[in-house]
Amino acid sequence: MIILAIETSCDDTCVAVIKASGKKKPRFKILSNIISSQVEIHKKYGGVYPILAKREHQKNLPVVLEKALKKTKKPKIDLIAVTVGPGLEPCLWVGVNFAKNLAQDWNLPIVPVNHIEAHILVNFQFSPAVSGIQKIFPAVCLVVSGGHTQLILMKDFGKYKILGETRDDAAGECFDKIARILGLGYPGGPAIAAAAAKITNYKLQITNKLPRPMINQKNYDFSFSGLKTAVLYGYKNQPIKEMCKEVQQAIIDVLIKKTIKATKDFGAKTIILGGGVAANNELRKQFIENCKLKIENCRFLVPPKNLCTDNAVMTAIAGYFNLNKKTKNWRKIKANANIKL
Ligand code: KG4
Ligand code: ZN
Repeated sequence: MIILAIETSCDDTCVAVIKASGKKKPRFKILSNIISSQVEIHKKYGGVYPILAKREHQKNLPVVLEKALKKTKKPKIDLIAVTVGPGLEPCLWVGVNFAKNLAQDWNLPIVPVNHIEAHILVNFQFSPAVSGIQKIFPAVCLVVSGGHTQLILMKDFGKYKILGETRDDAAGECFDKIARILGLGYPGGPAIAAAAAKITNYKLQITNKLPRPMINQKNYDFSFSGLKTAVLYGYKNQPIKEMCKEVQQAIIDVLIKKTIKATKDFGAKTIILGGGVAANNELRKQFIENCKLKIENCRFLVPPKNLCTDNAVMTAIAGYFNLNKKTKNWRKIKANANIKL
């Protein structure tokens, strides 16, 4: 089956076409994956400006669709998948309305997709990950993006329980806000990671040490706003690259410690990572090291970097896993900024 997917939950306008087949062992082939980033537009605000983002999505979607279809040599599409939430409400509506127009023109069903679930399910695009499907669950999923930081227990496809989440800023938001304080531009995650990577001999002066918020608390929640405040009052006269290294390490320490705690507490067989922050090289590396050292027989799944940040391939894959939700009665589909897993 050929799925065309649309993702406009934040500041990337994304359309993808994939070929999906198989029930027990789903297989996916990416036919096109087009992303039009609005980074340049939002840079001067140091974050996403929703009304501008909405306007850009409206402008970009037809162009991005055209490109996506051209690349696939216009195959016969069977289904449209669209992100309905969570995300920025005005942006979500652009994608949802666009999907409805296509569904009407092409007489196709739509499957609504949850953005968080898509960040998780994109990990199942490779058949090796899927071939041992029974051994994957229960899994502990860490979704870390600009809008979310959540630890989720996944008992099976479609069966999720939120174990904990951030009480204030998301991890990506923390990277973005600190990068802004340090004058490093937007998006902050890649900028901080690049500056941190320049430090090879990491001997941090103790004065630079940042807190690891909530790291020893017996819950699965996070809090990152204190880090931003600590940087705001402590960064002056400190070498920027060292500060970046410490910021990145503080975030990584908390994310890994809490994920490993959840993995042990629930006897999880797999750790699944997703979201833009999962593109961070150090986070990926240190997760693998910690999994080997601290937990036995635990798989670690993380998407390729280009599928960690927002894209529509993940929407298409999540659509395939949610075929039971597809409907020709698509007029009822609504965007929902706060939809829960
Ligand atoms: O998943 P995503 O593209 O959009 C949301 O759903 O929010 O995540 C974007 C976030 C931004 O906050 C960005 O700074 C962060 O992911 N990010 C990174 C890296 N690449 C993107 N954070 C740390 N290291 C990176 N390499
Ligand atoms: Zn996202």
